[in-house]
Amino acid sequence: MRAKDGVLALLENNRGRSVSGEEMARALDISRNAVWKAINELKKDGYKIEAATNKGYCLREDNDILSVQGMAPFLSSRGAAADVKVYSSLASTNETAKEMALTGAGHGTVVIADCQTTGRGRYDRRFYSPPDSGIYMSFVLRPEGSPFEAPTLVTAFAAVAVCEAIRAVSSKTPLIKWVNDIYCDGKKICGILTEAVTDFESGRIGWIVVGVGLNFSAPKDAFPEDLLGTAGPLFSEGGGAPTRNRLAAEIINRILDSDGYRREEMLEKYRSFLFILGRQIQVVAADGSYAATAIDIDGTGRLIVETGDGGRRVLSHGEISIRC
Ligand code: BTN
Repeated sequence: MRAKDGVLALLENNRGRSVSGEEMARALDISRNAVWKAINELKKDGYKIEAATNKGYCLREDNDILSVQGMAPFLSSRGAAADVKVYSSLASTNETAKEMALTGAGHGTVVIADCQTTGRGRYDRRFYSPPDSGIYMSFVLRPEGSPFEAPTLVTAFAAVAVCEAIRAVSSKTPLIKWVNDIYCDGKKICGILTEAVTDFESGRIGWIVVGVGLNFSAPKDAFPEDLLGTAGPLFSEGGGAPTRNRLAAEIINRILDSDGYRREEMLEKYRSFLFILGRQIQVVAADGSYAATAIDIDGTGRLIVETGDGGRRVLSHGEISIRC
């Protein structure tokens, strides 16, 4: 382990408390000079570290840089087994995760970036991914490690996982708009993009990449104009937010823990987070747009809607908007 990684792990484990240089040197079996150098490198990376004479170094509580060490204290045993890779910037975490999956990355590989230069959403739309304010993460899932029968169920499972993670670390009440958007306080705070590769001969799923893009706090330069009406941050300034590391860890714990997965139980939770059931919606389909009422979610996560003439349709993908 690099001295810098070890020092960061000790600081994160003692966040808000001082750890002496001597203690760190002893714990990591390195010199005090090496500790001092590591502290300076971390400060250059933007870590807010305070030094007090006779006390040592202290990572400030409001420090919020994504790192494996920052997530570690919050990972469950399942989460801790994940191969988490954190980058300051990537084109797209889904693209990197797919490249990794193609070259053999195992189930539970997690790619996280502080910002994305070409983050993608559904229908190849861009996903605005500025620095210091979001959590952009992609999971490589392989069939041997995940019990999902269909990619739609993976998306639903991930959406429930994100909502439950938010509930676990805050008093926020996230809601799901079918199929993959999460809303809070009337604004979209998270989108999920699931991509799967199936074996052409057997038709079986080879691997799945689940991408989660979460607007954690307000971006420094505000949301672009075209997103202002729909997108929003989960936490606004001074809103008693946890750290991004904490929330990312809680999401990892849940997405990688499918041991107790029961499809109907998961779908029941998914339904409980949906805010569209019973409401008038506008369905945007390839063959045009039409008004309908959202009735239910079926056993594979598809949306059942009732059209004006009393007929029913089952949607496996597509866009909906809420009609007032
Ligand atoms: C959507 O809202 O249409 C889905 C958005 C998914 C965005 C996430 S951010 C992490 C991962 N990397 C990407 O390029 N996209 C997904």
